[in-house]
Amino acid sequence: MLGNFTYHNPTKLYFGKDAMNFLALELLRYGPRVMLIYGGGSIKKNGIYDKVIKTLSDCGKQVFEDPGVMPNPTLDKLREGCRIAKGNDVDLILAVGGGSVVDYAKGVACSAHFDGDPWHEFWEKGALPSGKTIPVGCVLTMVGTGSEMNGGSVITNTEKGMKVGANFGSDNYPRFSILNPEFTYTVPRYQMVAGFYDIMSHIMEQYFSGKDDNTSDYMAEALMRSLVHSSLIAIDNPTDYEARSNIMWTATWALNDAIGCGKSQDWMVHMIGQAVGAHTNATHGMTLSAVSKAYYKTILPYAVEKFKRFAVNVWGVDCAGKDDEAIALEGLSALEDWMKKIGVAMNLSELGVREDMIEDIADSTIIIETSYKTLSRNDVVKVLMDSL
Ligand code: NZQ
Ligand code: ZN
Repeated sequence: MLGNFTYHNPTKLYFGKDAMNFLALELLRYGPRVMLIYGGGSIKKNGIYDKVIKTLSDCGKQVFEDPGVMPNPTLDKLREGCRIAKGNDVDLILAVGGGSVVDYAKGVACSAHFDGDPWHEFWEKGALPSGKTIPVGCVLTMVGTGSEMNGGSVITNTEKGMKVGANFGSDNYPRFSILNPEFTYTVPRYQMVAGFYDIMSHIMEQYFSGKDDNTSDYMAEALMRSLVHSSLIAIDNPTDYEARSNIMWTATWALNDAIGCGKSQDWMVHMIGQAVGAHTNATHGMTLSAVSKAYYKTILPYAVEKFKRFAVNVWGVDCAGKDDEAIALEGLSALEDWMKKIGVAMNLSELGVREDMIEDIADSTIIIETSYKTLSRNDVVKVLMDSL
């Protein structure tokens, strides 16, 4: 393991069919005023809302609702949430939904009592909150982002055409998260498979860095193999508990900091994907799948050994009679085959991107230094063009 790291993950997870029974226990730890945040109404259709409201009422809580969090939550909506949280001096924020709802809840929790401009402070500057923040609890209904056990909060600033992730640090991870795989059964297929690809992408973003022998990489390979196996079961039978529960657990470990330990990490697929999202409002996982092939082909020549390892350890590519580059490329083809099987977006045109939008998307892409090949702006344009 290269480098120094600190690992601290304070989120308490309740996992399984009975996980919701622990909500009351957790609610007892907080004051009476609870802000309930949710999305566009799926929780009202599938009955999760009724279960949550009953528990809140049994626990004697005063509930302040903030519904209507959209996929890819916006800064305008965040400001609205801050007014509700601060105006009612809430003791706890309970997020019931997918990554968008949980990200937004963390954003409100850290911004509501902040006197300055939260967008500038937390999303542009990347500062950690130093003042009062509100505890967040989560009931997860959609799998993919890992937001249930991390400090991430991705917000879209529609005025600036930017979609940016803040990381609020371990003091502001959800205090508890309730993970019942059955709650994810009603997720529409498009969202479900986008979530599967998001998980894969989170693992690859951390895996494709460094040249050392690193335990985090072995953990990442195990997670990718489990995801590939279970996702192929889940697309045929979305109510297969074993598959959906394995995927839920994999998603959490894919982005709860563990497999990033001792790794410099990459994250350029997310940077480009988020810029695409800012200009199209497309589903997050699909923005990643659409640009991945072109991106990985770009960096492969600088990391043939790692891509070969990926091919062999994740996809079981047979090395006999092939040179390293051929094996590495076969790994990428196996990834592509799997993407096609689960049915994610394979190019940007599917997401409404046109050639005349490429320059603006490139302008919105935050370029970060990566382990194998740091892209130039021209490289970003080429990846986008090759992904059309
Ligand atoms: O809004 P409702 O009506 O609830 O419908 C949602 C939404 O339309 C629906 N849904 C969720 N659970 C459901 C369900 N429909 C039926 N039954 C259920 N049980 O699914 C749709 C998508 O939900 P959303 O929360 O947007 O999806 P996801 O979990 O993929 O979250 C995406 C957001 O997370 C950010 C993304 O950028 C995007 O904004 N990310 C957050 C990260 C983090 N915190 O670390 C990292 C990720 O890379 C990602 O960037
Ligand atoms: Zn993601």
